[in-house]
Amino acid sequence: MQNFDYQTPTRLIFGRGVIGKLPSVMAQFGKKVLLTYGGGSIKRIGLYQKVMELLKGYQIVELGGIQPNPKYDPSVLEGVRLCKEHKIDVILSVGGGSVLDCSKVIAAGACYDGDPWDLITRKAKTTAALPIVDILTLAATGSEYDQFGVISRTETNDKIGYGDRHVYPHTSFLDPEYTFTVSRKQTAAGIADAMNHTIEQYFVEDATLLNDGFCESMLRSLMVNGRKCLENPEDYTARAEMMLACTYGCNGILALGNSESGWPCHGIEHALSAYYDITHGEGLAIITPRWMQHILSERTLPRFVKYGVNVFGIDPSLDGWEIARRSIDETYKFFESIGIPMHLREVGIDESRIGEMAHHIALNEGLEEAYAPLTEEDIRQILLASL
Ligand code: NZQ
Ligand code: ZN
Repeated sequence: MQNFDYQTPTRLIFGRGVIGKLPSVMAQFGKKVLLTYGGGSIKRIGLYQKVMELLKGYQIVELGGIQPNPKYDPSVLEGVRLCKEHKIDVILSVGGGSVLDCSKVIAAGACYDGDPWDLITRKAKTTAALPIVDILTLAATGSEYDQFGVISRTETNDKIGYGDRHVYPHTSFLDPEYTFTVSRKQTAAGIADAMNHTIEQYFVEDATLLNDGFCESMLRSLMVNGRKCLENPEDYTARAEMMLACTYGCNGILALGNSESGWPCHGIEHALSAYYDITHGEGLAIITPRWMQHILSERTLPRFVKYGVNVFGIDPSLDGWEIARRSIDETYKFFESIGIPMHLREVGIDESRIGEMAHHIALNEGLEEAYAPLTEEDIRQILLASL
């Protein structure tokens, strides 16, 4: 078991009607609030109006229109400008992972004199950030409980994962009812995203019985409850369990003491989103089984056997290679069964830029250090197999 040094400072307030506690949480900060949100779903579900009602007496500056795969220009730049101009005290971020991620970089950029891109690329160190409170409306990324924000820069085809302890949300409000309106497509993408977060942390060299059990339970819960959310979008119990499972996905709690994973599927998917602006969870669902197929070897076989037996209930008396092959097949079939397009061509990606993307990923994602090291040629083969 590896050494670790772990702290997640975020307060989670979970359940029906918890937004009633928003005024008492916000009272800890000053009166100037930057309210960040996306393309309008929070207005359609009445959450925007509710927030405005609860925050009467506050000076609220708005940054709406944050897109999925949030963009550095204009969203991050505009947010930083607004924070500085209005001397904002706290950011209230209402939406899915894209809104939360964008708000984290805005929070850090607001406390930095130079170009915020320096923080994202780690040219400069983050030394402070504005406090962030969020109200999550989409279960998927785990951004509500982690220190990461993934930002895209269209002109350079970059999608970079920024991370710093200063940008953990101060408080996250998680009311599963706000996720009832999430579309089938985004619900399925959220299931795939959280499942992949778990898989990335499960396929490592050095894991514990404890973490393996946690990951296996996460995967079973996401499949069972994810399906229920798709069958009945207003099934509170299923939405609630899915929301909590997603929250555990990215803040490291699933892998305390494990060796590093390298997060290879994320490294590959971020390039797909950067080049083609596709939905993150869909890209992951397409890549995951092809990556599994590619890394299956004598060395990785025992992990696949454990995964197949404990997650999909495959008969442990079968030959190991047969269990491994079936486990990859089951992974593919599950994603397909929840309606995810399982080929890159179906999401508008053809072979024309595969070589360029493989080069970009190999150069920027450090996947030669992953659990199963990937060279540029390995990445190219995984992408070709995903077409
Ligand atoms: O923009 P609005 O109108 O709000 O609509 C959004 C958006 O179109 C909609 N939506 C959100 N809540 C809704 C809703 N529609 C109806 N009812 C609701 N209650 O859903 C669409 C997608 O939203 P988005 O925030 O983009 O989805 P998600 O939460 O999946 O976030 C994806 C982003 O997070 C990054 C991804 O790369 C991607 O950019 N990630 C962040 C991570 C992190 N911070 O740790 C880790 C992840 O691996 C991931 O990379
Ligand atoms: Zn993800």
